[in-house]
Amino acid sequence: MSPCPAGHSSSLWTLCVWLHAMGCIQSIRCKPRSFRESIMVLEVNSSIDQNPTSIDETSSVVLRYRTPHFRASARVLVPPVAGKETWTVGWIQACSHMEFYNKYGAKGMSSWELPDLRDGKIEAISDSDGVNYPWYGNTTETCTIVGPTRKDTKFNVSMNDNFYPSVTWGVPVSDSNLPQLSSIWRDQSFTTWLVAINQATAETLVLQTIRWRMRLHVAIDPDKPLGQRARLLEPVAQEQPQILGKNEPIPPNAMVKPNANDAQVLMWRPKIGDPIVVIPPKY
Ligand SMILES: *[C@@H]1O[C@H](CO)[C@@H](O)[C@H](O)[C@H]1NC(C)=O
Ligand SMILES: *[C@@H]1O[C@H](CO)[C@@H](O)[C@H](O)[C@H]1NC(C)=O
Ligand SMILES: *[C@@H]1O[C@H](CO)[C@@H](O)[C@H](O)[C@H]1NC(C)=O
Repeated sequence: MSPCPAGHSSSLWTLCVWLHAMGCIQSIRCKPRSFRESIMVLEVNSSIDQNPTSIDETSSVVLRYRTPHFRASARVLVPPVAGKETWTVGWIQACSHMEFYNKYGAKGMSSWELPDLRDGKIEAISDSDGVNYPWYGNTTETCTIVGPTRKDTKFNVSMNDNFYPSVTWGVPVSDSNLPQLSSIWRDQSFTTWLVAINQATAETLVLQTIRWRMRLHVAIDPDKPLGQRARLLEPVAQEQPQILGKNEPIPPNAMVKPNANDAQVLMWRPKIGDPIVVIPPKY
């Protein structure tokens, strides 16, 4: 049976209209739509859990705290991939601002710093797991589609992040265990992108951009007994993430080594005297 409806000349136009009606193609120009034009984000969610940061004073050496989780998930539709192309879709995250100070009364403060970010040499630094660059992770965080595929592929990619650090009660550069930690201040900003990358050509499509921030302020009375020292100050609940209406480009340092974990330095900044590097960068 002829695929073309009767009464029309067998022009390319007719073939196009027929293919269109059959749902084979969506373009009247009879050109299959590119991956770029046809990948779709069906749904995207992002939030920071409502629970406040919890503080753990069970250790006589360190205070530990656990912040609420940032979460992002997206349902994505990838149409049939015609050729032998491989695309990975997933989450990439970068830190664009970091203030992370632990004050020790009149002695000074320790501070985790990202030197290149602090000095304005880079716009943002990768927050990859340190193995699967540029991706944040390789379990729920990404999905890889190996062409050719005959049908639509629908999947969910998700990620989460929170902070769970330890801060010494005593001044980091001293041998004394005397508790002197008097406050913790943290303010960090992140950008999280949902991205599709062609593994062969490295063509990169930004599908969604999310901005979020984690702020923490803890007042500490080091003279009180263990278990009664710390008090969480505002903000107790975090600002919710923003899913941007217009995507932002990914800065180069968000895609490559080193990640924030390997680049960060712990400094001791005394009230009087020069700063000291307590923990140098890993990379
Ligand atoms: C987004 O949140 C809604 C409501 O909680 C849920 O039904 C939906 O499955 C979520 N979508 C994704 C992609 O996680
Ligand atoms: C994820 O990455 C780890 C570390 O490179 C690797 O051992 C593991 O096989 C990867 N898993 C998947 C599902 O790709
Ligand atoms: C996607 O995965 C996240 C994390 O596992 C889950 O919370 C969410 O409900 C999932 N969404 C869909 C639509 O399956």
